[in-house]
Amino acid sequence: MTQILAIDQGTTNSKAVLVDDGGGVRAIGSAPVGVTHPRPGWVEQDAELLWSSVLAAIERCLALVDTADLDLAGVALSTQRESVVAWDRRTGRPLGPVIGWQDVRTAAWCRDRTGPDDDELVRGRTGLRIDAMFSAPKIGWLLRESAVVVSPADVRVGTIDSWLIWKLTGGERHVTEAGNASRTLLYDIVDLAWSPALLELFGIPAVVLPQVLRSDGDFGVCHSVPGIRDGVPIAAVLADSHAALYGHGCTEVGTAKATYGTGTSVMTPTASFVAGSSPVPSTLAWLTETPTYAREGNILSSGATLAWAARVLGGSVSDLLARAATVGDAGAVTLVPAFTGLGAPHWDREVRGVITQLDPDTDPARLARAAVDAVAHQVCDVVEIIDAEAATPLASIRADGGVTTSDLVMQTQADLLGRPVEVADLPEVSALGVADLARRRIGGAPTPRATGRVFRPTFDDSTRAARRDHWREQVRWLRSAPRS
Ligand code: G3P
Repeated sequence: MTQILAIDQGTTNSKAVLVDDGGGVRAIGSAPVGVTHPRPGWVEQDAELLWSSVLAAIERCLALVDTADLDLAGVALSTQRESVVAWDRRTGRPLGPVIGWQDVRTAAWCRDRTGPDDDELVRGRTGLRIDAMFSAPKIGWLLRESAVVVSPADVRVGTIDSWLIWKLTGGERHVTEAGNASRTLLYDIVDLAWSPALLELFGIPAVVLPQVLRSDGDFGVCHSVPGIRDGVPIAAVLADSHAALYGHGCTEVGTAKATYGTGTSVMTPTASFVAGSSPVPSTLAWLTETPTYAREGNILSSGATLAWAARVLGGSVSDLLARAATVGDAGAVTLVPAFTGLGAPHWDREVRGVITQLDPDTDPARLARAAVDAVAHQVCDVVEIIDAEAATPLASIRADGGVTTSDLVMQTQADLLGRPVEVADLPEVSALGVADLARRRIGGAPTPRATGRVFRPTFDDSTRAARRDHWREQVRWLRSAPRS
């Protein structure tokens, strides 16, 4: 029996998942990755430590299986998106930190150095808006501030998939996957090539960028990776959120998934690329024989909201959820977790979080419940836009990510959405999704999607509408309040 080793490199963890022929998980290893915040709004990681965490995850995973049974047919890679790293091609050494996707150090650059025409250009080519979250302004910053000492011909830049492929292949390949490239603001998702106009806009020389390959392309073979025999191919690469869409089997229009991590990504495939001004932008989900497009709303703070509330109220996230479950609702208390601004569909990066409607009955349980509600309401904000802009509303949502282990959050989500939420039976949907694509690439059969817990809505329409209206009112109030 052959296996695929799927690596899922996320913001806080690297995981290695050994997947067998039938799509079953044989073993999982994980290792944390440090994140630092050297200044307000700055989010950095150490590229070498990030690679070490991948190696540690592989080691921990493979330690759980008998090596005599190990016959790796391929490695599959799912990665955090938008974060960027620059390195020297001669030494392989990073030229500065990984600038994380949450990093907003280039917000002022985006605001001051680009205008409405630029925004239109970017939307038309990439489906996205100019925002500090995406890679291009971060690459510009790295080239201006960190990599300046090296001639551009020797600088290599990439998103995390690109860096890991470089490391996995022993420095042989400087390539990236199309779905990851689509998150840079530099890749034309219709022409399927780096856009000269966008490179010029962000001041990035083409020579530093990787070659873009399809998601099941020829990414090279592993070389000198402890635990992996030399020559094992990297058979598929997907951006993590896109891998989850694939792993959920959401390949048809009308299906959708929500991945609840630090933030939440709500994503739904579309029949074609629509370059519009929707607050839930289009993106390239993956590129195989043909491109598959999707719309995606990125919510900035979900798991992070629960972690924040747990820290402030004292105790762990489990304690927070247990506390929240002791009350039926939060009353009117509303937490709008705009810690680093609001993402989709509001796109207001300068607003900051609030707790509104405090009253004498507000206690830690209600505050905890308000944190749970905030996770669910933000998803509803995105789904309602998708519904309004599509021919038919989404029938249900498939969910994955750490937060989905909470029945309370998932039930709240179903109640506020007014439709079922189907939770993946295994949390490793991104890893399983990219493993599935890798297996197809090497000639194996696709694995069927396993269904897990299903949460059905319990609110009547008027309760749901009243809760949603109240949330919208609080968000509106916050966004119209004077800013300091
Ligand atoms: O867009 C950022 C996203 O890819 C990060 O994913 O799993 O690290 O929260 P995660």
